[in-house]
Amino acid sequence: MDLERAIRVLGDRLRYQLGRIRRIGKKKFICGDNCWISRRALFDRGSKVIFGNRCRVSPFVVFETQNGKIRIGNNVSVNSHTIMYGHGGISIGNDVRIACHVAIFSADHIYRDPASTIYSQGLNAKETIIGNDVWIGSGAKILYGSVIPDGCVIGANSVVKGTLEPYGVYVGAPARKVRSRLA
Ligand SMILES: CC(C)(COP(=O)(O)OP(=O)(O)OC[C@H]1O[C@@H](n2cnc3c(N)ncnc32)[C@H](O)[C@@H]1OP(=O)(O)O)[C@@H](O)C(=O)NCCC(=O)NCCS
Repeated sequence: MDLERAIRVLGDRLRYQLGRIRRIGKKKFICGDNCWISRRALFDRGSKVIFGNRCRVSPFVVFETQNGKIRIGNNVSVNSHTIMYGHGGISIGNDVRIACHVAIFSADHIYRDPASTIYSQGLNAKETIIGNDVWIGSGAKILYGSVIPDGCVIGANSVVKGTLEPYGVYVGAPARKVRSRLA
C-alpha cells in the first residue's frame, strides 16, 4: 500500500514505525522510530524536518522551513496550531513539550532604513536553539536566535528573545526569570 493510500485508510492515526524518509505528496520529512505525525500537520514544499524517535505532532502544526533545517530530538511533542519558521534553522533537543499556538522563529525582517521598504531589506537569520527537558507554554513566541537551554519552562504567552539560563522559569513579554527549577 502506498503512503497516500495508507493515510486515507488509517485516517489521522497514521503511525510511522521505521526511521526513514517519508513523503506526504511532495512534502518530505525524516522521522525515527515510533513517531506519530498527524497527516493534518503541514510541511512546506521541499521541507527539511528531521525528527528523532517517539515524537508526536498534532493536527495543524505548521513547519515552514523556508530553506532552513528544523531538527527535533527524541520524545518531543508539538501541539496543534504551533508554527515553526526554519529560515536560520531550528534545533530542538530531547524530552521537549511544546504546547498549542506556539510560534518559533529563526529570522527577523531588517527594517532600519526608512527609505526602503521593509520587504526589500531582507532578513537577519540565526538559528534558534531549544535544549533538553524544556516546556513551552501555550501561545509563547520564541524570537530568532534565542537559546532556551536545558530544563527551562516558558510561561503561556511569553515572548522570548536572547539567551536564557538553564532550568529557569520565564514568564511575560519580554520573558523574565521568576524562579529556577534548581532552587
Ligand atoms: C509558567 C508557569 C508554569 C508558572 O507556574 P508556577 O510555577 O505555578 O508559577 P506561579 O503561578 O507561582 O507564577 C509565578 C509568577 O509568575 C506570574 N506568571 C505565571 N505565569 C505567567 C504567564 N504565563 N505570564 C505572565 N506572568 C505569569 C505569576 O502571576 C506570578 O507572579 P507574582 O509572583 O508577581 O504573583 C505557568 O504560569 C504557565 O504559564 N504555564 C503554562 C500553561 C500552558 O500553557 N499549558 C499548556 C498545556 S501543555
